[in-house]
Amino acid sequence: MKKFQDISLLQYNTFGIDVRSRSLICYESEDELIDLIRNSKEELQQPILNIGAGSNLLFLEDFKGTILKSMIEDVSVLEEDECKVRVRVGSGWIMDEFILYSLQQGWYGLENLSDIPGQVGASAVQNIGAYGVEIGERIEAVNCISLEDGTMRTFCREECRYSYRHSIFKTPEYRGRYAVTSVDYCLDKIFTPNIEYAGIRQVLGSDGVDITGLSAMQLRNTVISIRKNKLPDPKVQGNAGSFFMNPIVDSATFERLKSMYADMPGYVVDDSHMKIPAAWLIEQCGWKGAALGRAGVHSRQPLVLVNLGGATGNDIRLLSDRIQRDVLGKFGVKITPEVNFI
Ligand code: EPU
Repeated sequence: MKKFQDISLLQYNTFGIDVRSRSLICYESEDELIDLIRNSKEELQQPILNIGAGSNLLFLEDFKGTILKSMIEDVSVLEEDECKVRVRVGSGWIMDEFILYSLQQGWYGLENLSDIPGQVGASAVQNIGAYGVEIGERIEAVNCISLEDGTMRTFCREECRYSYRHSIFKTPEYRGRYAVTSVDYCLDKIFTPNIEYAGIRQVLGSDGVDITGLSAMQLRNTVISIRKNKLPDPKVQGNAGSFFMNPIVDSATFERLKSMYADMPGYVVDDSHMKIPAAWLIEQCGWKGAALGRAGVHSRQPLVLVNLGGATGNDIRLLSDRIQRDVLGKFGVKITPEVNFI
């Protein structure tokens, strides 16, 4: 376990916001965390915030409590047969490192999520998704410890209530109450490529890759190259990936907007709902590549807000508010941040 007092959070959030925390404790096992909560409560200043890689956080001010961070990196096979493997993965693994590891073991299903920043634990909270796959589809259970009393609790997939960028852990009732310590995935031992996403098919076609013989590693590399082309590297320019979620509207609203904006893209969610790319809405409002002080909108993917250098959390929030207001004003559609404001 590593403990720090009055520490800069610069390297603990990918937005690169320079705030401090009263304390930070990095735990390396479930037992360490349980012991801390049950027996050393005096070391935990309220409020308590359990973070992952800080790739979905926007700090607005110094944090007055204790930040907990998982460094649990165990991995164990729970069960396997010729077709499937159930594997338990510590929440402190970097998601992309685990994806690479899984492919090296011949375990498939996560390759489309390659290169998404973040840790295994946080990805189960956010239900990260990309290129036609959401992590919730592969999760069997999320193993947690209560931050209130140190008891262990496992949430099976149904209990996690996964939907687009959502889980039970984001609801007002459960938010901030549990630290995820490990995630159980069900992965395939037979590779079936998921290349439904138009962007992937396009790149595979233009790269001249023979899709019949496509390997999982080739698919991973394709996803990585698409992301690298579009998305800024947080190590170079602070950002938290998609800042907003794509709004879901009812079909009548979608049709009404479509009659006004014929080129508006949309994706079917279910019989009565459509998803509109927030990137398109933001671009139509003239924000693509624009800036407000030290906060900017990325020039290739307007869904991503960037720290142009030395931005505060409030600089980013101001920009986010302006974009939300403009999108609401022009289209009557509310876009909601995916990023958590702290
Ligand atoms: N678009 C524009 N202008 C642009 C860019 C995109 O109008 O400059 C429109 C286009 O119509 C395009 C559509 O937006 O077809 C979708 O763009 P993209 O394929 O880049 O996906 P996205 O909906 O913007 C989502 C996820 C990403 C994920 C990609 C690929 C959310 C909030 N974001 O973005 O996730 O990588 O799909 O699956 O759902 C993240 O969460 O950090 C993230 C990057």
